[in-house]
Amino acid sequence: MKRYIPISRTEGTASRQAHCDLPEGTYEREMSKEGFFGPAAFFHHRHPPTGWSNFEGPLRPRALDLARLPETSTSPWQAAEVLANAACRVRFWRLARNMERLARNADGDDLLFIHRGTAELHCDFGHLTIAAGDYVLLPRGTMWRLEPAEPLDVLMIESTNASYHLPDKGLVGPHAIFDPAVLDTPKIDEAFKAQQAVAREWQVEVKRRGAVSTITYPFNPLDAIGWHGELAPVRLNVRDIRPLMSHRYHLPPSAHTTFLSSRFVVCTFAPRPFETDPKALKVPFFHNNDDYDEVIFYHAGDFFSRDNIHPGMVTFHPAGFTHGPHPKALKRMFEQTKPATDEYAVMIDTRDPLDVTEAGAAVEWTGYVDSWKGA
Ligand SMILES: [Fe+2]
Repeated sequence: MKRYIPISRTEGTASRQAHCDLPEGTYEREMSKEGFFGPAAFFHHRHPPTGWSNFEGPLRPRALDLARLPETSTSPWQAAEVLANAACRVRFWRLARNMERLARNADGDDLLFIHRGTAELHCDFGHLTIAAGDYVLLPRGTMWRLEPAEPLDVLMIESTNASYHLPDKGLVGPHAIFDPAVLDTPKIDEAFKAQQAVAREWQVEVKRRGAVSTITYPFNPLDAIGWHGELAPVRLNVRDIRPLMSHRYHLPPSAHTTFLSSRFVVCTFAPRPFETDPKALKVPFFHNNDDYDEVIFYHAGDFFSRDNIHPGMVTFHPAGFTHGPHPKALKRMFEQTKPATDEYAVMIDTRDPLDVTEAGAAVEWTGYVDSWKGA
């Protein structure tokens, strides 16, 4: 454990409990280390920290409309890469037809989030039917292919040179949020055996160090008759996530962590009741994500009343400025009209800075930086 400089102070007029009991007419801003796990300071401001009148320079909040990306080839390695750093690569893949070749990622584990559509997954380990709302974690080296029943939109999150893990669920234990028993793995079933029976030549596109090599077999290499072990692709549907909440305390996004890699985390926002204590915040608190770049992919729902944000969009908040609720949401900071949130979103928080690629910038909504105006 790192030892930080141990101070706990109060200056001026301040509440004694984060995210609650704010002095009248103030806006709370959290500045913290290590995401939400390190030392933090909570300021009570007279104005919303997102109330900027102008924002210039390379740093800015950005929104990319991935739903505007064109349908790509049937190879995941041709999918549009939209955000990337050395430890994490985010692609958006629009697949309308069966993959003609097998894929294998030799660079890292791939986490597929199915935004839209359904498909049959055939891989080294067997067959799995996948649908919208599924996370499908493919361990590095897995050979796989998809046969869409309906066109698929897939957010692919590569954990480059590192494996995905489940987070330590700490005080609430390993069966909270989702029970490991809800994780599905592929089956060696009739559908899998049927695809083995088709005699044809198959090619495998192997991605290693970002370059694709093609290995040809005169037979179908997905020909295992069985396997055993502790390593396999797993599927988790967002509807199987039972989010943590407290009626008296707005939990930080880290409470919704679903998968961990060595340099980033993947969190899932799923519908949950609003806090009911009259003095507890009901919206995300303003914060500086100073140690992390923050990406949110909007899957379904109303997204805290953000104007112009629709399913298939991604917002990118690089570290370095404060972000928080939009003006409409802020009006309901302490009093909500609905009983619960209505959103499914995937958040990727990276410890290292991400770059927006050319493909990502091509579908940018440049008005996003001004969307807090009126706050
Ligand atoms: Fe954030």
